[in-house]
Amino acid sequence: MKKIKIIATGSYLPEKILTNDDLSKMVDTNDEWITQRTGIKNRHIADKNQATSDLGVIAAKRCFETYGIEPETIDAIIFATVTPDKLFPSTAIYVQKSLGILNVPAFDISAACSGFIYGLSVAGGLINSTSMKRILVFGGETLSKVTNWEDRSTCVLFGDGVGVAVVEESFDESGIISVYIGADGNMEYLLHQPAGGSRNPATFETVEKKLHTIHMAGNEVYKFAVNTMQMAAEKALELAKITSQDIKWFIPHQANIRIIDTTAKYLKVPKEKVFVNIDKTANTSAGSIPIALDQMNREGLLKKGDLILIDAFGAGFTWGAAVIRW
Ligand code: ACO
Repeated sequence: MKKIKIIATGSYLPEKILTNDDLSKMVDTNDEWITQRTGIKNRHIADKNQATSDLGVIAAKRCFETYGIEPETIDAIIFATVTPDKLFPSTAIYVQKSLGILNVPAFDISAACSGFIYGLSVAGGLINSTSMKRILVFGGETLSKVTNWEDRSTCVLFGDGVGVAVVEESFDESGIISVYIGADGNMEYLLHQPAGGSRNPATFETVEKKLHTIHMAGNEVYKFAVNTMQMAAEKALELAKITSQDIKWFIPHQANIRIIDTTAKYLKVPKEKVFVNIDKTANTSAGSIPIALDQMNREGLLKKGDLILIDAFGAGFTWGAAVIRW
């Protein structure tokens, strides 16, 4: 079996920043509540005219420029998102068009916050089962477009942003050592966007009732998140035949600082090994892990040979974790 590795990263967070104080002028909330309950201070918000693919194109251009990647060397485009530009065609198609990488497969993955790890897994499968050599895996969202800005229990949590990784076969020790992904549809109703699909097509009523926005039972999701992130991480570590003591960095999905801290505690990972940027990005769903990887990469925090554990959960519920030797 061919091992794959990440050879380049990129990311883009929109220019506009919405602070907790800004939010306190929109709904009945305050900086203290949001900071204490979530660890979030700021979130980036896409422009009215910016769709998810537009963020992805900037992330990819940054990645190509930094690492000298020629677009014509890309063999497939995978975009993990739950906020596609349109219900169809896929967001990957719009990225493909803008970047001019024509005639290669381009498709989306819908696995919410776990989407990027699903994407890595699918890219590995394609490299193993086809002649494809180099795949572009995006994860990211414009969640601000499906946020109910009158609902204080959700609107403080999310942000926009896209991250991308270029993956190809590894011929040295670097690479993805284990990936563990899964899902349990029994609790889909705890976190979803009720309307806009074939179950509840758009009507005046669905729009009036704000059914095209994120609906979440925060407390229930919280409990599931903590248990599942621990389970997925342990499984990925076990598959890689290492323990949490061996890892240099734990990069968890950035949903809530309390979820991050509790998961790290359960896994016995000390604070200094846990990467956190939720204060600046909020929850960017599928963007969370690739944005973190790119930020760490640019800051020189990831050194060749480092063992990294990435770990996510999301709507569905879905989960995914992977051990990577950088
Ligand atoms: N500002 C002030 N007060 C608020 C706010 C707010 N923004 N939101 C809720 N409250 C109030 C509630 O109304 C409630 O008031 P009450 O006691 O008078 O009824 C009180 O604060 C406590 O509310 P809880 O919901 O119990 O607060 P909790 O401590 O559970 O925190 C939170 C809520 C932050 C949403 C938490 O449950 C959480 O993080 N859950 C996980 C969410 C998550 O990670 N989702 C990720 C999914 S990502 C994806 O797949 C897209």
